[in-house]
Amino acid sequence: MRKGFLAIGAVGVLALGSLTACGDDSGDQAGGGSGKTPKIGVILPDSSSSVRWESADRRFLKEAFDAAGIESDIQNAQGDKNAFQTLADQMITSGVTVLMIVNLDSGTGKAVLDKAKSQGVATIDYDRLTLGGSAEYYVSFDNVAVGKLQGEGLVKCLTDAKAEKPAIAYLNGSPTDNNATLFKEGYDSVLKPKFDSGEYTKAADDSVPDWDNTQAATIFEQQLTKTGGKIDGVLSANDGLGNAAISVLKKNNLNGKVPVTGQDADPQALQNILAGDQCMTVYKAVKKEADAAAELAIALAKGERKQTGQTVRDPEGNRDVPAVLLTPAAIYKENVKDVIADGYVTKEQVCTGDYAKLCADAGIS
Ligand code: BGC
Repeated sequence: MRKGFLAIGAVGVLALGSLTACGDDSGDQAGGGSGKTPKIGVILPDSSSSVRWESADRRFLKEAFDAAGIESDIQNAQGDKNAFQTLADQMITSGVTVLMIVNLDSGTGKAVLDKAKSQGVATIDYDRLTLGGSAEYYVSFDNVAVGKLQGEGLVKCLTDAKAEKPAIAYLNGSPTDNNATLFKEGYDSVLKPKFDSGEYTKAADDSVPDWDNTQAATIFEQQLTKTGGKIDGVLSANDGLGNAAISVLKKNNLNGKVPVTGQDADPQALQNILAGDQCMTVYKAVKKEADAAAELAIALAKGERKQTGQTVRDPEGNRDVPAVLLTPAAIYKENVKDVIADGYVTKEQVCTGDYAKLCADAGIS
């Protein structure tokens, strides 16, 4: 397991190494060749839909910019679309040469990207694609693959539990996040054939606005009520939503009996997995995502263009956006240790109190 896991890391590194400069053809490009001092602005979306933004993305991006000696300004819009736009305006005024965003929705994201472009500032969509947007690059994970791992994970846990004709509830991500659409495409590709054949039934299918964890608990409570408690598996699109479902399952003494999926390898989710309350999570090595985005941003800031060797289709803007898409990994009880070995979370964060014994049992030393 460990071997395969590390091999995935190596692929990510190779992908980075293969970003090739293709000359300075960017004389008239935003941010390029302007003679301005390189400075990179980053706007993160919030700090409540997932702990990753503040605990991983901020840290790894800052480290990458600092290592290259490039000035950066990393801010968080805290889920507020007006604040998002204000932050972008302030960054443009302060002279950033490249702006990297994780949009809160495509509409406000597009407005920010277009404005930056009109002011000669190059842009990157980080993690979430802005539909109809104008970013030079998109850097993310293969998000359909993330959803596939979740679907496959749920099937594996239901099979292990010998569940018969299980009733599945979906807790999808925010309808305004293009990633949520891609995750669903991935897990539907695994689960829909099972619904169609009658092997599984779909008990509920709800999206959680803004990935709001509090609303997720309410929505899941309603799903349980609506089905008379007959939910045998929860396809939750990330760890925060999964933890919300687990908190409701706990109140009903159903935790551990109903597999729940997740994403992000949050310390809390890793604890839930060790305790048997969560079936799996999807680990995205955010360091690789941050490094790839920083490498492209630094090049743009210096007026260079790199080729990523890959594009993604923006169906709204009808354009192919040069992209870097990294490979996610499924995490179950037996390979929680790999996430810690990778330096994404620490043993101290996961192995607290009662979890110390569960950590030892899972080979986390
Ligand atoms: C990200 C996930 C994250 C979610 C909520 C998605 O766009 O890809 O990693 O859990 O947003 O913040």
